[in-house]
Amino acid sequence: MNSLDSDKLIDGKAAAAKVITEVAAEVTALKAEGFEPALAVVLVGNDPASHVYVRNKVLRAEQAGIHSLVFRMAADSPVEAVLEVIAGLNADPKVHGILVQLPLPAHIDEQLVLQAIDPAKDVDGFHSDNVGGLSQGRPVLTPCTPAGCMRLLRDRLGELSGKHAVVVGRSNIVGKPMAALLLAADCTVTVLHSRSREPQALSRQADILIAAVGRPALIDASWIKPGAMVIDVGINRIEEHGRTRLVGDVDFASVLPLASAITPVPGGVGPMTIAMLMQNTVTAACQQRNQAASEPAKESACLSTC
Ligand code: GUN
Repeated sequence: MNSLDSDKLIDGKAAAAKVITEVAAEVTALKAEGFEPALAVVLVGNDPASHVYVRNKVLRAEQAGIHSLVFRMAADSPVEAVLEVIAGLNADPKVHGILVQLPLPAHIDEQLVLQAIDPAKDVDGFHSDNVGGLSQGRPVLTPCTPAGCMRLLRDRLGELSGKHAVVVGRSNIVGKPMAALLLAADCTVTVLHSRSREPQALSRQADILIAAVGRPALIDASWIKPGAMVIDVGINRIEEHGRTRLVGDVDFASVLPLASAITPVPGGVGPMTIAMLMQNTVTAACQQRNQAASEPAKESACLSTC
């Protein structure tokens, strides 16, 4: 890679480290007031990738000074048992954030579980109260991956107003909340999906392209307007020569020469997702503390979020 191209690379690890440092400062101030933010993670079953993700979340929480608790449950746990754990966490004033790691085993109704989480503790932003609030542009807990993408976009581009953003993919976790956040930032937003006609032609209008489809290297140069900023949310595991390799939704080598900036996989969006989870946990903790104390937010130690 020449030096021009390496300037285009967005370092998600460095950006995430900056967020964690900011969050850690907020946590330190809160602890000085005798208040310790805490995150509870519920992990059901034995999905190996989920176990890795949860381990990383616990590590990052530690770095930020956030107390974390992990509830590991057997793969055959009945939904009632999961709901009971969530009810206990909802009622516990020492727990401020609750995350149920997805995917859940097939016999468990995901929506039933996600809707059982107290929206004030829903640090994933998946509860319908938060989804609805986001679509109305209200300040709610926001899904972590799209929130991380917004931070990377703003860090690189500054003001986003008026830019044409194309989101490829319409999942509840990334595509839809991403489109809502871009709209709230006054972008013109196009969402492409498996039934879209001539997606490459539409995608070539994008100043900002967000790839979140879960298809390895789908997005090649034919999708890119020269100068576009490209954010690759895909994390696809492919088997190659007997080894597992992580690749994004973007054909990196083909897109790099055209893009003005691009996130690599790994090391792009991934680290930002966990960093924003820590940010959401502190936001949720501050809001719960302020509500409990009924004190004005400006008197609290919450620096950026309350
Ligand atoms: N599994 C993959 N991504 C996510 C996420 O953002 N949140 C949760 N809870 N589970 C996931």
